Amino acid sequence: MEKEKILNAACDHFRAIVSEQLDRAEKMKIREVVDFTSLDRVVIGFCGGDGIGPVITHEAMRVLGELLKEKIAAGRVELYPIEGLTIENRLAVGKAIPDDTLAEIKKCHVILKGPTETPYGTGMESANVAMRRELDLYANVRPVKVPGESIDWTFFRENTEGEYVLGSRGFDVPGMLAFDFKVTTDEGTRRIARAAFEYAKKTGKKSVSIVTKANIMKKTDAKFSAICHEVAADYPGITAEDWYIDIMTANLLNKNRRSQFEVFVLPNLYGDIITDEAAEIGGGVGTAGSANIGDRYAMFEAIHGSAPRMIERGHGAYANPTSIMRACVLMLDHIGFTAEARRLSAALDRCTDGDCRVVMTGRPDGATAAEFAEAVMRVM
Ligand code: IPM
Ligand code: MG
Repeated sequence: MEKEKILNAACDHFRAIVSEQLDRAEKMKIREVVDFTSLDRVVIGFCGGDGIGPVITHEAMRVLGELLKEKIAAGRVELYPIEGLTIENRLAVGKAIPDDTLAEIKKCHVILKGPTETPYGTGMESANVAMRRELDLYANVRPVKVPGESIDWTFFRENTEGEYVLGSRGFDVPGMLAFDFKVTTDEGTRRIARAAFEYAKKTGKKSVSIVTKANIMKKTDAKFSAICHEVAADYPGITAEDWYIDIMTANLLNKNRRSQFEVFVLPNLYGDIITDEAAEIGGGVGTAGSANIGDRYAMFEAIHGSAPRMIERGHGAYANPTSIMRACVLMLDHIGFTAEARRLSAALDRCTDGDCRVVMTGRPDGATAAEFAEAVMRVM
């Protein structure tokens, strides 16, 4: 009897999620694409987030304000502060993104977001995951460059489905077992594959690595790979190669091989894991930016978390804003401000690694986020 009850609950649960996912897959077929590069006026919203988030976001916005001051004065750009994406507020209203905050976010074209905390054990969904879903930001684009080693990688991580889409909707039989669900849709795969191959074509890259675990995940990852190959057929000059995620994590550590890889396309969770590894190879997770791109909106963020321990130690002012400033470069490129993107990127190179290096340690023996921003503004 007990088992019968469990089975009924499981069937109801599965029926509900399959129904929702079918609706999502259907909705995905309708695409309304905004050409961000041809907007007369761009609204850049910014949310500070939690922990060190407000510190680094504030410095990034200062730099953007300076870089875009003529465009702001001419009304071509608006920098729009968004309140309410804080852990306190999210817990108070019991939502990953409070409704009024989401409405504010939707008034913008692009968002710069500081890291947000996901309270462990409360069951609350991550604000990141919720925002990616609500704004349908399906492409997580993470570039990693190590010029000295000829490494120039760009990861296209599927950002709205896979292991994440039902991450808060698993099925638990307490004391016995638990299930989580992974969902891969044809359209969801097609659009991320298209983004990766288009990028490869535009930038003259010769290969796209499709990274899955299709030998084990025989439904979802096999579909992912098959659809990537379908898309690849439209790009004759570019080779599409299958790799398994385990050996790819090893390849990235292999100094004799790693520079041969160029563009990667991969499901959500593998993309999450491997981009931290790649960022570490590229100088640390504190240094890489991340773009979350959809057809209508885009959100840019640091790849690292909110570092609550730095705040507890009273070291928040010493947080390193490089990662979120790299995200600003991606944002400027995305909205077609290529010259400004190059200026900021070059200034960051100089201040992190070059002749104007600012030493950031995350502690009072290093520079503050504000000092770093000032150095960037001096040389940009
Ligand atoms: C990232 C982060 C997020 C993720 C977390 C904060 C939900 O690790 O952007 O890579 O898992 O996607
Ligand atoms: Mg991650």
